[in-house]
Amino acid sequence: MLKVSSLRLTGLSLAVLAMTAAVAAHAGEVEVLHYWTSGGEAKSVAELKKIMQAKGHVWKDFAVAGGGGDNAATLLKSRVVSGNPPAAAQIKGPAIQEWAAEGVLANLDAVAKAEKWDSLLPKVVADGMKYKGNYVAAPVNVHRVNFVWANPEVLKKAGVTGMPKTYDEFFAAADKIKKVGLIAVAHGGQNWQDFTTFESVALGIGGVKFYHEALVALDPKALSSDTMTKTLETFRKIKGYTDAAAPGRDWNLATAMVMKGEAGFQFMGDWAKGEFLAAGKVPGKDFLCAAAPGTANAYTFNVDSFAMFKLKSADSQKAQADLAAAIMGTEFQEVFNLNKGSIPVRLNMKLDKFDDCAKLSSKDFVETAKTGSLQPSVAHGMAIKPAIEGAIKDVVSQFWNDDKISVAEGQKRLIAAAATK
Ligand code: GAL
Repeated sequence: MLKVSSLRLTGLSLAVLAMTAAVAAHAGEVEVLHYWTSGGEAKSVAELKKIMQAKGHVWKDFAVAGGGGDNAATLLKSRVVSGNPPAAAQIKGPAIQEWAAEGVLANLDAVAKAEKWDSLLPKVVADGMKYKGNYVAAPVNVHRVNFVWANPEVLKKAGVTGMPKTYDEFFAAADKIKKVGLIAVAHGGQNWQDFTTFESVALGIGGVKFYHEALVALDPKALSSDTMTKTLETFRKIKGYTDAAAPGRDWNLATAMVMKGEAGFQFMGDWAKGEFLAAGKVPGKDFLCAAAPGTANAYTFNVDSFAMFKLKSADSQKAQADLAAAIMGTEFQEVFNLNKGSIPVRLNMKLDKFDDCAKLSSKDFVETAKTGSLQPSVAHGMAIKPAIEGAIKDVVSQFWNDDKISVAEGQKRLIAAAATK
């Protein structure tokens, strides 16, 4: 038998041993399905992994490449159907309700109560994390979708002064960029990328009321209005400023084009900032951010969240509860969002370490919430049922990719898709 003296345990090492034992007693595995695989995204999610490992848990990474998460959603379905769900999956918006209605999500009320989530979250966010009054998901951030990013060197070369505030200014700037032989708009090739641009155009052309009526309420009157016609015309015009290699391109490669000075602008949510930052770029100096033309007083939000699935083993359940608590903890909310480009979803967090793009986002989030100009992003699964969202995204992408589809025809197809049951 080993004598304690022979181990020469110091007070400190005894304490460490005791802690390790305590941690080990509850150590469990969390398998986390996510689609954060670009430079900025991977760096951000690595912070959550670190926090969980520091708590003694085993992090099983279930990363599925593909921005916007369509591939991840398909894989998740097959895992749940085969009775083998991960502990947590990146699910958001109305999809949370759909999964909860299947009876497969875990009840997180114990941790939510202990950590006081109700008082730490904006009510609209908390409501989205609950099913029939019980928490089933934990929110990580608030992304703003209606952003445009720019390379200041490209703007300078082209003689463009300042970020465009209207579409007239935008197209004037885009023409100048084209003239100096560069690509005016960096764009990629998935339907969520097309719709990210489309919804910002709808918001900029028609304003908040139109955005809400047409894309959130799916009101046939708004969808068939002249404002929608103008939205589609403007959207098509933007396409003329993208390059021929855009189809199939990932969003982060489009961001890289802006970064390298090959392109002037990109319409993208503020996860693009995560890419710039991960590449060591400095906001205001190496890249610029602004609300998309005509949308300075509005805010399309995209809240990422993890829904938790029912698990059998007690250790896994404990690890899952720890994951939920960590996600809403101040440490994670700060470090994750500094990397991700978003702002903390937890209220009353200090923002001194955040840059001006994040401070603008935070200020506008609070202000637009007061005026009703805070709107859910359709492109990012915040607004409508996944089936209808998919249908209208497909129509918008067909319109974007095929110049032979007239504006009138595109609008007709959009109205029909919005009526999907
Ligand atoms: C969004 C998601 C973001 C972001 C982006 C690209 O839908 O909310 O976190 O990473 O897709 O993958």
